Amino acid sequence: MFYRFPTPQAIAEYVVTQWIELIRSKPNAVLGLATGSTMEPVYARFIESSQNQNLNLSDITTFNLDEYLGLGPDHPQSYHYYMQQHLFGALHFDTKKICLPNGLCHDVAQHCAQYSRQIHDLGGIDWQLLGIGTNGHIGFNEPGTPFNSQVHVVDLSEQTRIDNSRFFADKSQMPTQAITMGLSEIMAAKQVLLLATGANKAQVMADLYHSPVTENMPASILKQHPNAKIIVDEAAASLLPAEAFRQ
Ligand code: GLP
Repeated sequence: MFYRFPTPQAIAEYVVTQWIELIRSKPNAVLGLATGSTMEPVYARFIESSQNQNLNLSDITTFNLDEYLGLGPDHPQSYHYYMQQHLFGALHFDTKKICLPNGLCHDVAQHCAQYSRQIHDLGGIDWQLLGIGTNGHIGFNEPGTPFNSQVHVVDLSEQTRIDNSRFFADKSQMPTQAITMGLSEIMAAKQVLLLATGANKAQVMADLYHSPVTENMPASILKQHPNAKIIVDEAAASLLPAEAFRQ
């Protein structure tokens, strides 16, 4: 389930080729999208290719994995803002079909239930992009999250707050909670691509490879997914044994 590419650009090329094939074969596909620096080359490549090919995106629905609780769409560190900057702002998606958790919702429990229902009512996610935290989180499902979790509010772990505070002017501005898709919505996706690039992901890739399927390593649940790929560049692959890449 591990696939190695020389560079983040080569990964972007591979992922975007699959992404465009999916949209061509299913113009009303439901996409699960992720944020983070890992996704930036992928979104840049997708913008370029879909513009060159004049791809019709008007029937596509997107669900983002997560959003910080307390940040509105205009906050530069919100995931709404990230998606606008890195993907949606440059392309003609139907804005009514772009879905992200609302970090400013009044009734969080109700909002989570509604977000989960929306995904379910569209038949689930066809194609899910994932990054990974250095502690093995996917979305914001931190270590210890039950495997049967649905969209929910999480208390961000200390490790995640340290990792992600690099985006905030000072760490005290970093939110302590987020809304995330649960592990059950992620596992229900028909196809999952987890991307990890850079030397700072090498240790978590080795941990994931050696880990049993356990809630302490949220990404390990993907070992039970029938169609999940873990895609790494050379730097993130540096602590993985050669057997990891034998299919
Ligand atoms: C955040 C997001 C995750 C993402 C992770 C990795 O914590 N909630 O979905 O996978 O960042 O981010 P990066 O790609 O910047 O390493």
